[in-house]
This record gives sequence, structure tokens and C-alpha cells, in this order.
Amino acid sequence: MDDYLNKNRQIQLFSNLDPIFPSTRYQGSKAKLVDWIWENIADLNFQTFLDAFGGTGVVSHKAKVNGKTVTYNDLLKYNYYFGIALIENRNVTLSASEIDWLLDEHPEIRYSSFIFDTFHEIYFTDKENKWIDRTIANIYNLRNVYKFSLALFALSQACIVKRPYNLFHRKNLYLRFADVKRSFGNKTSWDRPFDEWFIHFINEANRAVFDNDKQNRALNLDAINIPGFHDLVYIDTPYISNKGVGVNYHNFYHFLEGLAGYYTWRSQVDYKSKHRRMIPQYSEWNDKRSISESFDRLFDRYKNSIIVVSYRSDGIPSEKELLEILKKHKSKVSLLYFGQYKYALSKNNESKEILLIGE
Ligand SMILES: C[S@@+](CC[C@H](N)C(=O)[O-])C[C@H]1O[C@@H](n2cnc3c(N)ncnc32)[C@H](O)[C@@H]1O
Repeated sequence: MDDYLNKNRQIQLFSNLDPIFPSTRYQGSKAKLVDWIWENIADLNFQTFLDAFGGTGVVSHKAKVNGKTVTYNDLLKYNYYFGIALIENRNVTLSASEIDWLLDEHPEIRYSSFIFDTFHEIYFTDKENKWIDRTIANIYNLRNVYKFSLALFALSQACIVKRPYNLFHRKNLYLRFADVKRSFGNKTSWDRPFDEWFIHFINEANRAVFDNDKQNRALNLDAINIPGFHDLVYIDTPYISNKGVGVNYHNFYHFLEGLAGYYTWRSQVDYKSKHRRMIPQYSEWNDKRSISESFDRLFDRYKNSIIVVSYRSDGIPSEKELLEILKKHKSKVSLLYFGQYKYALSKNNESKEILLIGE
């Protein structure tokens, strides 16, 4: 273990290379599509770029690498801190000695056992829960918001990678230890210790930090309420399948939201739920009855900007309906398909990644 730690701390000292975005696992992440998205928007006339539903920040990072002035936004707090760490941050990284400090126990810090007490046999083992309680308390002792955010990012990614399905939607710790043939998941990743993953993701996060000489920032607002004007607004809302089931980020990732507000988490836990989720919050982006009006309002809000929308062709509303809504607000609208499909609108049973551009 010590060898492993030493080796990785050295790698960190050689990180003065081209920025690389970390390898995240997140529902709806556009990591695999970001080059294609960029190819299709790079020639549009814009300098200021708003990523209104920023998620991992991979699209914002691409825009930052390409010299744009980037505003990253996400409604969830943990994502906002990722935006602070990876987009707004110009030059702050975590050093090897800071990593050491984060991994140690300190007599001057009063540690809470909140995770250990609350999530017994739900997501992680008792030993792991204790480790998380200690590490998050250490992270809260970092005074610099960029250092705090980098460390929170690394801890959150370590939690995700050690979870079956990379989610927190079920009490299913037992899956990690069940002696069965699995058609999903990666036991090696689940079993790799938290310390190792934490260092791994700090190194990845450090590698993403750079200055593009622009005033980039991260926000934590509802996408409809972002002030100011941006030349281009990129929109990547949660997906609602044609069966009407939406991706509820607050529910899937409540554990990360809890870490991002560790000292007030207790009051937000839904103690009636087996998996100790947070008290649910209504989201218009998960509501198939009103989703079309939500898009209409959002496009209206940003009608003076170039609007670029990532979408899945089999969602609600249909791609055709979404196209019509966008046409109400923008005079020139184009529709692009990722992959070999080029022309026709999709059939119901196909799910294609699409890009709508309204100029
Ligand atoms: C499809 S994901 C975005 C993925 C992102 N483009 C990426 O590549 O990682 C949708 C994101 O929207 C966020 N979100 C949900 N409702 C929101 C709202 N009303 N305003 C802003 N963000 C919201 C979720 O937290 C989630 O991270």
C-alpha cells in the first residue's frame, strides 16, 4: 500500500501537462460525445458559453480548453463544487503533503460518526463508512474553496466507483460480497480501498486544472434563473424515457449531495426510506406531464443566445416535438445525429443521441 501511495504522489508532481478531464461515471455524462458535440458547434460565433445543466463539467471543460469564457451551472451542490474545482479553478491543486494530511487522523479535529451511524449495511462497510466520516471532516478543514472542491470531487468519485451500478438508489451493499456470477459491475473496483481511489482521483482532478486566461465561474442555480447574457447556452436536461421514467439526480446521487453539506445532512435524511435517501424534491425535469412547457420556458429565457440541446431521440417530449418547441424561439434550427444515422427522424424503438442547434 505504501508503495502504491508513494508512486501516485510522485505522478502528481509531474502533472504540468495538457489538461485532461477526469474519468467520471455519471448518468447522462457526455464524456463520449463531447468531441462530436464540439465539432458541430466550434464554428458558431460565440465567446461566452453557459453550460446550464453542467453535471460532470466535461462539456464546460472542453469549452474552457477551447478558449471560451465558461459559466458552469448545476442545481445540485456536489456538482457545483466539481465546477468550482475543474472549471472556475485556475491554478490551485492539492499537493502530496496535503493528500497525506487528508488521509490522517488529527487530534485537534472533532470527528462525527454520522455516516457510520446512519448508513450501516446500506452502501459501504462499517470500516469504509468510518473512513468517509474521517476524510470528509478533514476536507471541511481545508480553508481554500478550490482545495476543498478538489478533495470533495475525489472523495465523491471514490464513493461512486465503489458502488454497484455507480448509484445510491438502493440498499445493496450485499451485492459487493454475494458469491454469484454477475452480469454487471466490477468487483475489483469495489474492493480497491478508498485511500487508493481517493489519491487516484485527486491526481486526475489536478491534471484537469489550468488557466485559459478567462473569467470562468461555477454557479449553483436552477437553469431558468441564471442571470446575464451568454452567446451560447448548452442545455442537457435530465432524460425522461418514452415510458415516462425520468433520471432523478437528487435521488440517484443523494449521498454525494449529503457529503457536499455534511454538517446539515442529518436534517435532510428521509428516515422512512430503507436506503436513507434525502427527502425527495419535486423536479419539473422529471415530470412528463409538464416537461414540454418546461422546455418552452427555458428556450424562451435564452432565445437571444445560440441554443444547443443534447437530447435522446426516444425521450419525452419526442424529438419532433422538441424541434417544434425550439422553432418557436429560434429562426434557424438544425438537428444532428450521433453515429451512422444522418437523416430520418428516429423510430420509436431506437434511441439516438441528438443535437439540436438553434441560431
Ligand atoms: C444529463 S445531466 C448533464 C450531464 C452533463 N452534460 C455531463 O456531460 O456530465 C443533467 C444535470 O442537470 C442537473 N439539473 C437537474 N435539474 C436542474 C435544474 N433545474 N437546473 C440546473 N441543473 C439541473 C442535474 O443535477 C444533472 O447533473
